Amino acid sequence: METIQWQKCLGSGLLALALAFSQVGCAGQPESSSRQESQALASQPEQQEPESQEGKTLVVYFSATGNTAAVAEVIAESTGADLYELVPEEPYTPADLDWNNPDSRVSREHASPDLRPAIAGEAPDLSGYDTIFIGYPIWWGQAPNLVWGFVENSGLSGRTLIPFCTSASSGFGTSGETLAAMAPDAVWLEGRRFGEQLDSDAVAQWVSGLNLAP
Ligand SMILES: Cc1cc2nc3c(=O)[nH]c(=O)nc-3n(C[C@H](O)[C@H](O)[C@H](O)COP(=O)(O)O)c2cc1C
Repeated sequence: METIQWQKCLGSGLLALALAFSQVGCAGQPESSSRQESQALASQPEQQEPESQEGKTLVVYFSATGNTAAVAEVIAESTGADLYELVPEEPYTPADLDWNNPDSRVSREHASPDLRPAIAGEAPDLSGYDTIFIGYPIWWGQAPNLVWGFVENSGLSGRTLIPFCTSASSGFGTSGETLAAMAPDAVWLEGRRFGEQLDSDAVAQWVSGLNLAP
């Protein structure tokens, strides 16, 4: 209905132009947690103005074996946030992840804290995202080097950042403090650790207790 009135006022030529601009604006954006929602927005050109992107929430995560990904998905569903997976340019094989082998890839990365494994694809466009959840598996009590690289290089100052992790048994430990030191001009909220088995209710309860703006 709104779209029809808008068409009457401005004419169908202007509508086509506005839609073309809105599509360019979406290119390279992180994946929406709700494709239907994105399509609904696309039919309302006035909501595609850049300022309408302000205050959005993004869930960025790295997950080698899927546990953190499952938590990230629940957070995105609970908050209506967009989701962005940090995919290593060179995926981790089971042999890479063997922490008992001092020569494995993860052991070598752990022994070289300055090493930053490359992340595949273009960096996510973070403009408009005021609040960003950052998820990772605990590796030797910390976030993996790959996540460190994302936090250091993504221009996160001024944003509200909320770390979360999964682990076999370790707590959140100092993993959040280490990350906070890498983006000191951001506003870091207290993070939360979850177990390897997904507990959707616990995740949703935690998110709801954060009282984020809708
Ligand atoms: C290299 C490596 C180191 C790990 N270090 C720890 C640890 O210090 N404490 C712990 O409780 N779990 C540790 N784990 C287990 C993972 O944190 C746990 O399985 C996590 O849920 C994996 O998340 P993902 O499936 O998203 O990769 C480690 C796993 C790997 C591969």
